[in-house]
Amino acid sequence: MIRLRMSRLYPIGALLVFILVCVHVNNQTNKNVDISLNNYSENLAEEEAAYQRVFMEWPKCEQNMSAANISGFSSLPAHIQQFIYYRHCRHFPVLLDIPDKCGGSEKSSNVFLLLVIKSSPGNFDRREVLRKTWARERQHNGLWVRRIFISGTAGSGVERVRLNELLKAEQKEHRDILQWDFHESFFNLTLKQILFFEWMKHRCPNVHFLLNGDDDVFANTDGMVEYLTDLPGNNGSSHLYTGYVFENAAPFRSNRSKYYIPKQITAELYPPYCGGGGYLLSGHTAMKAGLLPTVHTGVKTLGLTIKKQKMDEHEPCYIKGLLLVHRFLPAQMYLMWKKINDPHLRCGCSFKINQF
Ligand SMILES: *[C@@H]1O[C@H](CO)[C@@H](O)[C@H](O)[C@H]1NC(C)=O
Ligand SMILES: *[C@@H]1O[C@H](CO)[C@@H](O)[C@H](O)[C@H]1NC(C)=O
Ligand SMILES: *[C@@H]1O[C@H](CO)[C@@H](O)[C@H](O)[C@H]1NC(C)=O
Ligand SMILES: *[C@@H]1O[C@H](CO)[C@@H](O)[C@H](O)[C@H]1NC(C)=O
Ligand SMILES: *[C@@H]1O[C@H](CO)[C@@H](O)[C@H](O)[C@H]1NC(C)=O
Ligand SMILES: *[C@@H]1O[C@H](CO)[C@@H](O)[C@H](O)[C@H]1NC(C)=O
Repeated sequence: MIRLRMSRLYPIGALLVFILVCVHVNNQTNKNVDISLNNYSENLAEEEAAYQRVFMEWPKCEQNMSAANISGFSSLPAHIQQFIYYRHCRHFPVLLDIPDKCGGSEKSSNVFLLLVIKSSPGNFDRREVLRKTWARERQHNGLWVRRIFISGTAGSGVERVRLNELLKAEQKEHRDILQWDFHESFFNLTLKQILFFEWMKHRCPNVHFLLNGDDDVFANTDGMVEYLTDLPGNNGSSHLYTGYVFENAAPFRSNRSKYYIPKQITAELYPPYCGGGGYLLSGHTAMKAGLLPTVHTGVKTLGLTIKKQKMDEHEPCYIKGLLLVHRFLPAQMYLMWKKINDPHLRCGCSFKINQF
């Protein structure tokens, strides 16, 4: 169903494992917060005040100096050291918010598919093309598709200020950016994802399904709506975590790789996970179940039967039979979306979905 490049995906598994760990720790730290994020009282003003306390005013998270005591710390690459110093940080102030994205927490069940797209502040071109193509907010077969870009901050000094201004200007026009005050980096992608779940609990808890993806994938979102509508017995209220599944994946141990994960971070194989380039979740799984695929029994994963002969990745009929393809440049994205939506396009090929 979802076709992604292996080399790119292994490391994302590493990140997902961090998510699992993070969600676990997050549950513990939340006990100290004096409001229940799950309680949507009728008193909206009170709710909003509580939201402001929790989301807008987090104190700055301090570096954990004793983290440097772990063995071999000084020989680790600088970005890994950064990760270890700050891995305990779970909350960051919201810089840009979209409180009414789903029409309020109660009405959020009117959103069928929420597109949650990880995008760094500098990726202006990618956001612009997505707004015009697969991430356009619309109804498909009468079901609402909504879009959110999730972002941190990038650069420093003047560059950082300029990029924040860019996001602010885009927000004014499109109302589709959720930004937190943390530094964008590959190792902070998981942080971004869990901050999103925390936000969603409050703002959009009842959406039926989510696509979590990167801003350089081609997502056949019409196809996704159709696929999700046809799921037997699942309108988003049962488990669903689907994508390109990796099993028995091991951490990268070469310290020259961008994806290097030292033993100090994890010594184990990863549990089965879906590649982070794009995966679908039900609202239920996102909100209530945690993300550990091994612990819940109801998880369905998907595979795609791809025809044996080599297919052209830029052939519209081929793409139309898939739900997600990795690595598209903005111009390719634009053209492909036009082609697969061309009413004159006739496709003889059909693809089978295997559930296992
Ligand atoms: C939720 O809020 C309502 C109204 O403010 C209150 O009566 C109820 O006890 C709260 N429930 C929980 C679980 O905190
Ligand atoms: C760990 O680090 C802290 C702060 O840098 C230091 O004070 C402490 O002595 C270290 N502990 C050990 C066991 O090395
Ligand atoms: C800081 O790092 C030390 C050593 O790894 C660890 O034992 C401690 O729990 C960390 N503190 C926090 C707040 O995460
Ligand atoms: C990689 O590891 C080797 C051996 O431990 C070390 O000498 C080298 O400096 C490391 N390289 C980086 C980029 O950390
Ligand atoms: C993640 O973001 C925090 C907050 O901005 C930063 O302190 C930390 O260095 C970042 N981590 C990495 C690995 O970039
Ligand atoms: C979803 O399905 C469940 C179980 O079949 C049902 O109780 C619930 O009302 C449905 N929700 C919506 C919004 O249709």
